[in-house]
Amino acid sequence: MDLYEAVARRRDVRAEFSGEPLDDAVLERVLGAAHRAPSVGMSQPWDFVLVRDPGTLGAFAQHVAGEREAYAADLPPDRAATFAAIKVEGVREAGLGVVVTHDQSRGGPQVLGRRTIADTGLYSTCLAIQNLWLAATAEGVGVGWVSFFREEWLAERLALPPGVRPVAWLCVGPVTGLQEVPDLERHRWRSRRPLADAVHHETYRRTPAESRS
Ligand SMILES: Cc1cc2nc3c(=O)[nH]c(=O)nc-3n(C[C@H](O)[C@H](O)[C@H](O)COP(=O)(O)O)c2cc1C
Repeated sequence: MDLYEAVARRRDVRAEFSGEPLDDAVLERVLGAAHRAPSVGMSQPWDFVLVRDPGTLGAFAQHVAGEREAYAADLPPDRAATFAAIKVEGVREAGLGVVVTHDQSRGGPQVLGRRTIADTGLYSTCLAIQNLWLAATAEGVGVGWVSFFREEWLAERLALPPGVRPVAWLCVGPVTGLQEVPDLERHRWRSRRPLADAVHHETYRRTPAESRS
């Protein structure tokens, strides 16, 4: 698969996990791709906690269900009805959680390039996630990013050291196939903006339609 094909085929997977175990060699390659990501000052602030214990998977899925309910309770009725049909995680079905963590202290206090923008550390960890996601797609493996969780809850459950933040719980596993259209578009929750609206020339201008949404 070439890069553009992987970019186009990558999907956030919730329902298509087959439940088969992921081959160790494939997982190693995918994690290797994540670990080759660029990082500010080469700080490499990420780590990967691999979670397979059914007790932890079940406890996390329950925690996510609670946060999902809390989110739904704040929605207006029409949006709540649309949201009800949307699956937001495949934690148990995937059978493997890759929790990507961020350590802002890695590399010391004077990380090259991070002096004026502290978030560049976090951006680096997110680039590792994107590398992982694209490599998994090229391997025919599904990834679903779950963010319906409380950082403190997951940090405690995984015994993360103080200051190490859980950035993403990634459900990772073999799939029966990948959807062609993102779930949120299929469920008419939100659709992709035209590229032309995202590209600006010389100064930032919003289209009249975007100023309203
Ligand atoms: C930072 C981040 C957090 C996300 N959190 C969730 C989540 O909690 N549950 C979920 O189902 N999808 C989550 N997603 C997936 C997005 O909904 C998905 O990427 C988007 O709808 C576009 O679909 P696609 O990834 O299939 O192209 C998250 C994605 C990102 C980048």
